[in-house]
Amino acid sequence: MADSLSKVEINDLLEAARSARGKAYAPYSSFPVGAAALGLDGRIYTGCNVENISYGLTNCAERTAIFKSISEGNRGFKAVAIAAGTDDYCFPCGACRQVIAEFGRDILVISSNSSGRYIISTIEELLPAGFTADMLRKETAD
Ligand code: THU
Repeated sequence: MADSLSKVEINDLLEAARSARGKAYAPYSSFPVGAAALGLDGRIYTGCNVENISYGLTNCAERTAIFKSISEGNRGFKAVAIAAGTDDYCFPCGACRQVIAEFGRDILVISSNSSGRYIISTIEELLPAGFTADMLRKETAD
């Protein structure tokens, strides 16, 4: 289980996610989202959604943050925070859950709403019985 987060870490992540939301490129949905991933290196990696006229090529805020981190050399994460302008808590989509789970089943996901309230889940709770690298390793040879 990951260490629990301090209030300072949570507030820093939510503030970074809200700030990243301001950079979203979302002309088609008008639904800007920001994310902030806390790396095990102690750095915060931010991301926003980047939409495309083809729609299907859209990249969510969470994946942008994770991909930025990986490309800068950090592969371990403690938490990922998400900020959208919704009354309800904004949870990651299925694709983003799979991408977050790639880097650890105990990563904490902080889903926030427009009032700044939040709920914390582990990625294991959000993607139970997900497809993992263990399955590839356990494949029966035939
Ligand atoms: N989106 C995210 O970036 N993250 C989420 O957690 C939910 C959805 C984006 C994708 C698309 O650009 C827009 O929000 C509407 O679905």
